[in-house]
This record gives sequence, C-alpha cells and structure tokens, in this order.
Amino acid sequence: MPRAIISPSVLASDFGQLTAECKRMIKGGAEWLHMDVMDGHFVPNITMGAPILTCVHKGVPDIFMDCHMMVSHPEKWVDDIADAGGAMYCFHLEATENPLSLIEKIHERNMKAGVAISPDTPSTAISDEVANAADMLLVMTVYPGRGGQKFIERCVPKVAELRARFPEKDIEVDGGVGPKTIGVCADAGSNVIVAGTAIFGAEDPTVVIQQLKDTVNT
Ligand code: DX5
Ligand code: ZN
Repeated sequence: MPRAIISPSVLASDFGQLTAECKRMIKGGAEWLHMDVMDGHFVPNITMGAPILTCVHKGVPDIFMDCHMMVSHPEKWVDDIADAGGAMYCFHLEATENPLSLIEKIHERNMKAGVAISPDTPSTAISDEVANAADMLLVMTVYPGRGGQKFIERCVPKVAELRARFPEKDIEVDGGVGPKTIGVCADAGSNVIVAGTAIFGAEDPTVVIQQLKDTVNT
C-alpha cells in the first residue's frame, strides 16, 4: 500500500484566519491541505474558489493543495485552479460525462487528477481505464456538502474493493473520519486521510495527525 498522507480539511478552520490556520496544520505535521470547493449547484453550499486558493498558496507556497471539486461542470475550473496553485484536482465522477478527457486536461496543467465517488455511487462506476489514468481515487464517507457529518460505514467496503483492484493507487477517504473511524478505513486500504472536525477541533492537532498516520502505517 502507498504511504500514509494526512490531508486536514480547512473547511473546519476559522476562515478569517485561513493562512494562520494552514500554517498551524503544517506545523502539526500535515503534508497536504484539503480544500473543499463547493459551487452551490453540485452541492447546496458555497465555500471557496480560486481567489481564496491563490491567497492560501501565497501564504503557504510549499503545501500540496488537495482540491476537492464539489462542482458541476468540473471541466470549467481546471485552468483557474491550476493558476491558483492547486496540486490535486479531484472531481466527482457523477459530475462529468467524460472523465478521461478531463483527466487529460488536468494533467496538461501539471496537476494530479483525482476521481471522487459519492456514497450512492458504486466502486464499479470507476472503470479500469479511468482509475489507471487517475492519480487518486476518493471514496466519500459522507454525502458531499458540509463538514462535521457522521461517518457512513457502509461506504467502507468500496475502499476495499478499489484497493483490491488497484494495489498501488492513492485511495482517499473523506467525511467523518477521525480517531474513532480511522481503523476501519485503514483496514480497508485507504492511505490518504481527510479529516476536518477531528483535526481542527482537537486540543492538539499534532496528536491527532500523528495518530491517524500511525493507524494507517501499522
Ligand atoms: C464534505 C467535505 C469534507 C469535509 C470533511 O463535503 O468534502 O472534506 O469537510 O470534514 P469532516 O472531517 O468534519 O467530516
Ligand atoms: Zn472534501
């Protein structure tokens, strides 16, 4: 299995202190930052877009911005997110008709391409061709749209199915993940762990980040 990566979701941070919050996560041992982009269309909420990512990138230029695009028409934002300093462009399979050409477009802009599936989408919806072209697969463990939701355990078998098909691929889990739910995610084979509330709400994020990493690594 590929190495453990912890990607704190800044959706759970104080947006008024965004750069300081990002620096706090890096100090706590995070190598990636998970940026939840919502458009008020694919999901009901609106969060942030390229202008905010540009500011974060300026404040913390060396961090890997893991952009989770909860948007309709994901083709539309590839250039803006690349210009903003995005490193991973993870789109929802449910939002596009042509995932292969989108992955190509993302790679042309020198970003990694991720393919996300919502709780009601089966793992088999990700074809071998799409998965092989992508750099990462994201199994949502809540319905996309907001932070702080309860972990949906029935999504976990999809992680195991994808890990069996793609032993070397980065597989991310996102939604309701924390010290209590990391065990089943790690056992199923996910190695990229998104956590918002569990990390930002902790007294000491360093301890939680380390705990999540250790659980995946053992
Ligand atoms: C949900 C987002 C998640 C969310 C995770 O739509 O994609 O990234 O912010 O937050 P927690 O860990 O609080 O569930
Ligand atoms: Zn997310």
